[in-house]
Amino acid sequence: MRREPIVLFDNGDHKCLMFDDLVTGDGVQSNQFLIVDNGQYLLLDPGGDLTYTPLSLELSKHIPVQELTYIFASHQDPDIIASLDKWLLHTRAKVICSKLWARFLPHLTAGYLALSHGISTYDRVIPLADGGAAFPLGRNRLYAVPAHFLHSVGNFQLYDPVSRILFSGDMGASLVEDASPVTDFASHLPHMEGFHRRYMAGNKACRLWAQMVRKMDVERIVPQHGRPFIGPEMVTTFLDWIETLECGLDLLGPEDYQLPRTTR
Ligand SMILES: [Fe+2]
Ligand SMILES: [Fe+2]
Repeated sequence: MRREPIVLFDNGDHKCLMFDDLVTGDGVQSNQFLIVDNGQYLLLDPGGDLTYTPLSLELSKHIPVQELTYIFASHQDPDIIASLDKWLLHTRAKVICSKLWARFLPHLTAGYLALSHGISTYDRVIPLADGGAAFPLGRNRLYAVPAHFLHSVGNFQLYDPVSRILFSGDMGASLVEDASPVTDFASHLPHMEGFHRRYMAGNKACRLWAQMVRKMDVERIVPQHGRPFIGPEMVTTFLDWIETLECGLDLLGPEDYQLPRTTR
């Protein structure tokens, strides 16, 4: 039995919903998000084929899916945007993503879109420059916030100043089966430490990102996998941790770049 989405925020005009149990089978647990503001709708990191059907069914209980205004793709990964062709075909949404990925996204869409439906993938993409941008949704604004190399080279997070949620993509992700809030940081750490050490590009990017987030009014950091960090204390604890984490290139040396000796 599918659960109802988690309501992260709702003041009547502005709503943030989190779908946390749509991935089944081999896929890693992923959260998908819907932000609604005064008749406009943004879907954040909808995922791939695994989530397309259940997600569009769930969305149809809340919004007229064809009227979707935006799809925001934080980066190019399969669990982020692999179902792009279906969303382009079945909705009117424009896709917001890094300019680094705009020209590669057409590789995710089958030729039939252009041939039979006259849909140009490239024309539906709004490419973001590295500095990011604010853009309107309904009567409010959302911010595409730079988070490059955390982990993708062209990577954006979504900041919602109304709910004060930073939707942080893979940053803060944990490999668990649910999206209940983190209550004990120390016992949560083993679920995310290995992931961050390998998937994040290096401490410099973590440090610059943490410095930026400290200057923003963030009440919650909500990642694309696993559990959110809620409240100023937990947000600060996460920033303190990631700011000093050695990861990615920091941990690599000549021994990691050698002709393999093993056969499989
Ligand atoms: Fe990713
Ligand atoms: Fe991911």
